[in-house]
Amino acid sequence: MTSLLSIHGLKKRFDERVLLDIPALTLELGSAYLLTGVNGSGKTTLLRILAGLEPAEIAASAFHGQSISLSPYPKELRDAIVYVHQQPVLFSTSLEKNIGYGLRARGVGNAEIKKQVGEAMAWAGVAHLRDHDPATLSGGEKQRIALARAKVLKPRLLLLDEPTANLDEAAKAQVAALIPAFVQEGGSILIVSHDHQLIDLPNITWMTLKEGNILFPSGA
Ligand SMILES: Nc1ncnc2c1ncn2[C@@H]1O[C@H](COP(=O)(O)OP(=O)(O)O)[C@@H](O)[C@H]1O
Ligand SMILES: [Mg+2]
Repeated sequence: MTSLLSIHGLKKRFDERVLLDIPALTLELGSAYLLTGVNGSGKTTLLRILAGLEPAEIAASAFHGQSISLSPYPKELRDAIVYVHQQPVLFSTSLEKNIGYGLRARGVGNAEIKKQVGEAMAWAGVAHLRDHDPATLSGGEKQRIALARAKVLKPRLLLLDEPTANLDEAAKAQVAALIPAFVQEGGSILIVSHDHQLIDLPNITWMTLKEGNILFPSGA
Protein backbone atom coordinates (compact mmCIF):
# COMPACT_ATOMS: atom_id res chain seq x y z
CA MET A 1 0.00 0.00 0.00
CA THR A 2 1.27 3.47 -0.82
CA SER A 3 1.57 5.70 2.22
CA LEU A 4 0.20 9.22 2.34
CA LEU A 5 3.28 10.84 3.79
CA SER A 6 6.60 9.38 4.84
CA ILE A 7 9.52 11.27 6.27
CA HIS A 8 13.02 10.02 6.96
CA GLY A 9 15.73 11.63 9.02
CA LEU A 10 13.82 14.58 10.45
CA LYS A 11 15.88 16.80 12.74
CA LYS A 12 14.82 20.03 14.35
CA ARG A 13 17.25 22.19 16.28
CA PHE A 14 16.68 25.38 18.19
CA ASP A 15 20.22 26.78 18.48
CA GLU A 16 22.31 24.04 20.12
CA ARG A 17 19.34 22.03 21.30
CA VAL A 18 18.11 19.11 19.17
CA LEU A 19 14.37 19.08 19.84
CA LEU A 20 13.35 16.43 17.29
CA ASP A 21 15.40 13.57 15.88
CA ILE A 22 12.98 11.22 14.15
CA PRO A 23 14.53 8.52 11.94
CA ALA A 24 11.25 7.66 10.22
CA LEU A 25 7.59 8.63 10.37
CA THR A 26 4.98 7.20 8.02
CA LEU A 27 1.33 8.23 7.92
CA GLU A 28 -0.96 5.93 5.95
CA LEU A 29 -3.91 6.94 3.78
CA GLY A 30 -7.25 7.34 5.54
CA SER A 31 -5.81 6.71 8.99
CA ALA A 32 -6.09 8.42 12.35
CA TYR A 33 -3.13 9.05 14.65
CA LEU A 34 -3.00 10.37 18.15
CA LEU A 35 0.20 11.99 19.37
CA THR A 36 0.88 12.46 23.06
CA GLY A 37 3.97 13.67 24.88
CA VAL A 38 4.82 15.87 27.84
CA ASN A 39 4.69 19.65 27.60
CA GLY A 40 7.59 20.98 25.61
CA SER A 41 8.37 17.62 23.94
CA GLY A 42 7.92 19.17 20.51
CA LYS A 43 4.41 18.11 19.45
CA THR A 44 3.36 21.52 18.15
CA THR A 45 6.73 21.96 16.45
CA LEU A 46 6.31 18.63 14.64
CA LEU A 47 2.83 19.56 13.39
CA ARG A 48 4.14 22.94 12.24
CA ILE A 49 6.98 21.24 10.35
CA LEU A 50 4.53 18.90 8.60
CA ALA A 51 2.37 21.90 7.67
CA GLY A 52 5.29 23.87 6.27
CA LEU A 53 5.13 26.52 8.98
CA GLU A 54 8.52 25.69 10.51
CA PRO A 55 11.71 24.61 8.73
CA ALA A 56 13.56 21.41 9.66
CA GLU A 57 16.34 19.22 8.33
CA ILE A 58 14.74 16.33 6.47
CA ALA A 59 16.79 13.65 4.71
CA ALA A 60 13.99 12.35 2.49
CA SER A 61 10.24 12.52 2.23
CA ALA A 62 7.53 11.12 0.00
CA PHE A 63 3.90 12.06 -0.58
CA HIS A 64 1.66 9.40 -2.18
CA GLY A 65 4.85 7.47 -2.84
CA GLN A 66 6.47 10.28 -4.83
CA SER A 67 9.64 11.82 -3.53
CA ILE A 68 8.99 15.42 -2.43
CA SER A 69 10.92 18.16 -0.65
CA LEU A 70 9.43 20.12 2.25
CA SER A 71 11.74 23.05 1.63
CA PRO A 72 10.54 25.16 -0.03
CA TYR A 73 7.17 23.79 0.99
CA PRO A 74 5.37 22.73 -2.20
CA LYS A 75 1.89 23.83 -3.26
CA GLU A 76 0.88 20.19 -3.51
CA LEU A 77 1.39 19.81 0.25
CA ARG A 78 -0.04 23.21 1.08
CA ASP A 79 -3.26 22.09 -0.64
CA ALA A 80 -3.23 18.67 1.01
CA ILE A 81 -2.19 19.36 4.60
CA VAL A 82 -4.16 21.64 6.90
CA TYR A 83 -3.07 22.62 10.40
CA VAL A 84 -5.60 23.77 13.00
CA HIS A 85 -4.08 25.84 15.79
CA GLN A 86 -4.83 25.02 19.42
CA GLN A 87 -6.50 28.41 19.83
CA PRO A 88 -7.83 29.16 16.36
CA VAL A 89 -7.85 32.77 15.29
CA LEU A 90 -11.05 33.90 13.61
CA PHE A 91 -11.08 37.02 11.47
CA SER A 92 -13.37 39.81 12.61
CA THR A 93 -15.79 39.29 9.76
CA SER A 94 -18.78 36.99 9.24
CA LEU A 95 -18.61 33.29 10.05
CA GLU A 96 -19.28 32.46 6.40
CA LYS A 97 -16.27 34.50 5.34
CA ASN A 98 -14.14 32.86 8.02
CA ILE A 99 -15.09 29.37 6.89
CA GLY A 100 -14.86 30.21 3.19
CA TYR A 101 -11.53 32.00 3.50
CA GLY A 102 -9.37 29.14 2.24
CA LEU A 103 -11.71 28.36 -0.64
CA ARG A 104 -11.62 32.00 -1.74
CA ALA A 105 -7.83 31.93 -1.56
CA ARG A 106 -7.93 28.91 -3.86
CA GLY A 107 -10.01 30.81 -6.40
CA VAL A 108 -13.25 28.83 -5.92
CA GLY A 109 -16.35 30.64 -7.28
CA ASN A 110 -18.83 32.40 -4.99
CA ALA A 111 -21.76 30.04 -5.56
CA GLU A 112 -19.62 27.00 -4.81
CA ILE A 113 -18.14 28.67 -1.71
CA LYS A 114 -21.64 29.44 -0.41
CA LYS A 115 -22.74 25.82 -0.92
CA GLN A 116 -19.68 24.29 0.71
CA VAL A 117 -19.67 26.77 3.60
CA GLY A 118 -23.38 26.07 4.25
CA GLU A 119 -22.71 22.33 4.34
CA ALA A 120 -19.69 22.77 6.62
CA MET A 121 -21.62 25.01 9.03
CA ALA A 122 -24.40 22.43 9.28
CA TRP A 123 -21.85 19.65 9.82
CA ALA A 124 -20.06 21.58 12.57
CA GLY A 125 -23.35 22.57 14.21
CA VAL A 126 -22.60 26.29 13.97
CA ALA A 127 -25.30 27.45 11.52
CA HIS A 128 -27.21 29.16 14.36
CA LEU A 129 -24.12 31.32 15.04
CA ARG A 130 -24.18 32.74 11.52
CA ASP A 131 -24.85 36.32 12.62
CA HIS A 132 -22.62 36.35 15.69
CA ASP A 133 -19.43 38.36 15.98
CA PRO A 134 -16.63 35.71 16.00
CA ALA A 135 -14.93 37.55 18.88
CA THR A 136 -17.87 36.75 21.18
CA LEU A 137 -17.90 32.99 20.59
CA SER A 138 -16.85 30.37 23.14
CA GLY A 139 -13.69 28.28 22.79
CA GLY A 140 -15.70 25.25 21.70
CA GLU A 141 -17.62 27.22 19.09
CA LYS A 142 -14.38 28.68 17.72
CA GLN A 143 -12.83 25.22 17.53
CA ARG A 144 -15.83 23.85 15.62
CA ILE A 145 -15.68 26.80 13.23
CA ALA A 146 -11.96 26.16 12.72
CA LEU A 147 -12.77 22.51 11.95
CA ALA A 148 -15.42 23.63 9.42
CA ARG A 149 -12.87 26.00 7.88
CA ALA A 150 -10.42 23.10 7.57
CA LYS A 151 -12.99 20.60 6.32
CA VAL A 152 -14.08 22.66 3.31
CA LEU A 153 -10.49 22.43 2.08
CA LYS A 154 -10.84 18.62 1.95
CA PRO A 155 -7.38 17.99 3.39
CA ARG A 156 -5.65 14.69 2.74
CA LEU A 157 -4.01 15.20 6.14
CA LEU A 158 -5.56 17.25 8.93
CA LEU A 159 -3.31 18.25 11.83
CA LEU A 160 -5.16 19.14 15.04
CA ASP A 161 -3.22 20.65 17.91
CA GLU A 162 -4.96 19.91 21.22
CA PRO A 163 -8.41 20.64 19.78
CA THR A 164 -10.23 20.02 23.05
CA ALA A 165 -7.80 21.60 25.51
CA ASN A 166 -9.47 24.24 27.67
CA LEU A 167 -13.00 23.16 26.68
CA ASP A 168 -15.69 22.01 29.08
CA GLU A 169 -16.99 18.43 28.86
CA ALA A 170 -19.96 19.24 26.62
CA ALA A 171 -17.82 21.24 24.18
CA LYS A 172 -15.18 18.48 24.16
CA ALA A 173 -17.81 15.93 23.21
CA GLN A 174 -19.10 18.18 20.41
CA VAL A 175 -15.62 18.64 18.95
CA ALA A 176 -14.72 14.95 19.33
CA ALA A 177 -17.92 13.95 17.53
CA LEU A 178 -16.81 15.81 14.39
CA ILE A 179 -13.52 14.00 13.99
CA PRO A 180 -14.53 10.55 12.65
CA ALA A 181 -16.10 12.22 9.59
CA PHE A 182 -12.67 13.22 8.31
CA VAL A 183 -11.40 9.66 8.29
CA GLN A 184 -14.67 8.27 6.88
CA GLU A 185 -14.23 10.62 3.93
CA GLY A 186 -10.79 9.15 3.24
CA GLY A 187 -8.57 11.78 4.83
CA SER A 188 -5.91 11.08 7.41
CA ILE A 189 -5.74 12.89 10.70
CA LEU A 190 -3.00 13.49 13.24
CA ILE A 191 -4.28 14.77 16.56
CA VAL A 192 -2.19 16.02 19.45
CA SER A 193 -4.25 15.41 22.57
CA HIS A 194 -4.41 13.93 26.04
CA ASP A 195 -8.18 13.85 25.97
CA HIS A 196 -9.82 10.46 26.43
CA GLN A 197 -12.73 11.37 24.21
CA LEU A 198 -10.24 11.57 21.33
CA ILE A 199 -7.92 8.80 22.47
CA ASP A 200 -10.82 6.34 22.41
CA LEU A 201 -11.76 7.01 18.77
CA PRO A 202 -11.99 3.72 16.84
CA ASN A 203 -8.91 2.56 14.90
CA ILE A 204 -6.71 5.36 16.13
CA THR A 205 -2.97 4.66 16.26
CA TRP A 206 -1.21 6.01 19.32
CA MET A 207 2.18 7.65 19.10
CA THR A 208 4.26 9.28 21.79
CA LEU A 209 6.94 11.90 21.34
CA LYS A 210 9.72 11.12 23.79
CA GLU A 211 13.22 12.57 23.88
CA GLY A 212 12.76 13.83 20.35
CA ASN A 213 11.59 10.60 18.74
CA ILE A 214 8.23 9.03 17.97
CA LEU A 215 7.41 5.80 19.76
CA PHE A 216 4.46 3.52 19.12
CA PRO A 217 3.53 2.30 22.61
CA SER A 218 0.98 -0.20 21.33
CA GLY A 219 3.56 -1.79 19.06
CA ALA A 220 1.56 -0.70 16.00
N1 LIG B 1 10.93 29.39 17.84
C1 LIG B 1 11.48 28.72 18.87
N2 LIG B 1 12.72 29.03 19.30
C2 LIG B 1 13.30 28.36 20.33
N3 LIG B 1 12.70 27.36 20.99
C3 LIG B 1 11.45 27.01 20.60
C4 LIG B 1 10.78 27.67 19.52
N4 LIG B 1 9.55 27.09 19.35
C5 LIG B 1 9.47 26.12 20.30
N5 LIG B 1 10.60 26.08 21.03
C6 LIG B 1 10.87 25.15 22.14
O1 LIG B 1 10.71 23.82 21.69
C7 LIG B 1 10.16 23.03 22.73
C8 LIG B 1 8.95 22.28 22.20
O2 LIG B 1 7.88 23.19 22.00
P1 LIG B 1 6.49 22.69 21.45
O3 LIG B 1 6.68 22.09 20.10
O4 LIG B 1 5.56 23.83 21.55
O5 LIG B 1 6.12 21.55 22.48
P2 LIG B 1 4.72 20.89 22.86
O6 LIG B 1 3.73 21.28 21.82
O7 LIG B 1 5.01 19.41 22.89
O8 LIG B 1 4.38 21.39 24.22
C9 LIG B 1 9.85 23.95 23.89
O9 LIG B 1 10.90 23.82 24.83
C10 LIG B 1 9.86 25.31 23.25
O10 LIG B 1 10.28 26.27 24.17
MG1 LIG C 1 1.92 22.28 21.88
